[in-house]
Amino acid sequence: MDHFLYRDGQLWAEDVRIADIAAAVGTPFYVYSSATLLRHYGLFDEALAGLPHSVCFAMKSLSNLAVLKLLGDAGAGMDVVSAGEYLRARAAGVPGERIVFSGVGKTRAEMRVALSGGIRQFNVESEPEMEALSAVAAEMGQVAPITIRVNPDVDARTHAKIATGKSENKFGIPIARAREVYARAAALPGLRVVGIDVHIGSQLTELAPFEAAYTKLAELTALLRADGHRIERLDLGGGLGIPYARSNEAPPLPLEYGDLIRRTVGHLGCEIEIEPGRLISGNAGLMVAQVIYLKSGEGRDFLILDAAMNDLIRPAMYDAHHDIIPVIEPEAGVEQRPYDIVGPVCESGDTFARARAMPPVAAGDLVAFRSAGAYGAVMASEYNSRPLIPEVLVKGDQFAVIRARPTYDEMLARDTVPVWL
Ligand code: LLP
Repeated sequence: MDHFLYRDGQLWAEDVRIADIAAAVGTPFYVYSSATLLRHYGLFDEALAGLPHSVCFAMKSLSNLAVLKLLGDAGAGMDVVSAGEYLRARAAGVPGERIVFSGVGKTRAEMRVALSGGIRQFNVESEPEMEALSAVAAEMGQVAPITIRVNPDVDARTHAKIATGKSENKFGIPIARAREVYARAAALPGLRVVGIDVHIGSQLTELAPFEAAYTKLAELTALLRADGHRIERLDLGGGLGIPYARSNEAPPLPLEYGDLIRRTVGHLGCEIEIEPGRLISGNAGLMVAQVIYLKSGEGRDFLILDAAMNDLIRPAMYDAHHDIIPVIEPEAGVEQRPYDIVGPVCESGDTFARARAMPPVAAGDLVAFRSAGAYGAVMASEYNSRPLIPEVLVKGDQFAVIRARPTYDEMLARDTVPVWL
């Protein structure tokens, strides 16, 4: 459920008309619903009720400071993958003890940033990283709390670009080598082992791969404990999928996911950490665009928007489906026609949807891309010198621009022409 609904013939974000935001900020733009973000965070919190747990929002999915403050104030921790994300989380008021640091290539400089600001744990992904972190922490007179990310060789059955738990993926250490690697970690002076970490992929639409991975994790916990390690925390990663096409998708709900966690690892007496991103932010955001032209091609009609692949890259990059709906509610039973919905960028990949059935639309109309809160604004670029589009946050009947659209002058001012040219 989200808070983007038609009322009085128009699309609203909570109690604000999308058309009013468009009039105030211009198109295209992203808009997020506070109520939806908080509701989705709360679903995970409830799903793990009764177990010691922390929900660390995977802020790679949506990292605007205002969103982080909203979730952080509600009690969320953060899963960060760079010093930049760490500093954003801190700037939003999230304490270091609630931040976990994931990622396959943390640099020494990034480790220093997190160690000096305070960190709940590093999720270490390789032996060289382990050695580096131990050295950095020891230099700083600290002991870094770590989990080690294991790769359970489980097929997440998701898009190949976002599957991470198979042995051919670059993530984690092979689970078969875990005992050896934990023994090495325990011997390093700058590290303190606190648990195990796993993340098998993103946009998972069934529970079976999670079940396979978490079952292997429970077995590993017993082995590592027998070896004398203190396994107090299990970081189970993120990855629970969302419905992108409302009409025909029903991925498992957080409550069912919570039951699975209880069943597979609930008996181990560990604190459970999860790192959901998309399920919290995905359906909490829309991207709103305007139709610039309708163009008749041979055997097809194109809807040319003012938004493009640089603003929302998911269709081009993952062949992702996003529902696209008019901001003025279509009349019931109105005849739909197929359109290729495209942006102005100079490549054919700049296509949001092919032969998508749409009610009648005209130049000047507004359309909204659903499920655009996750991996939307954060993956945008200025390709074709198109300034990044603004982000807006709604709460009840209020809205605020939480990232302004840069002016062309601001965009140009970031480049420097050397004096010798
Ligand atoms: N934890 C780790 C270690 C991750 O790598 C990820 C996502 C998450 C948590 C959060 O996963 P989520 O709950 O959001 O599925 N850009 C792609 C998705 C990339 C996901 C990368 N890692 C997309 O637009 O589909």
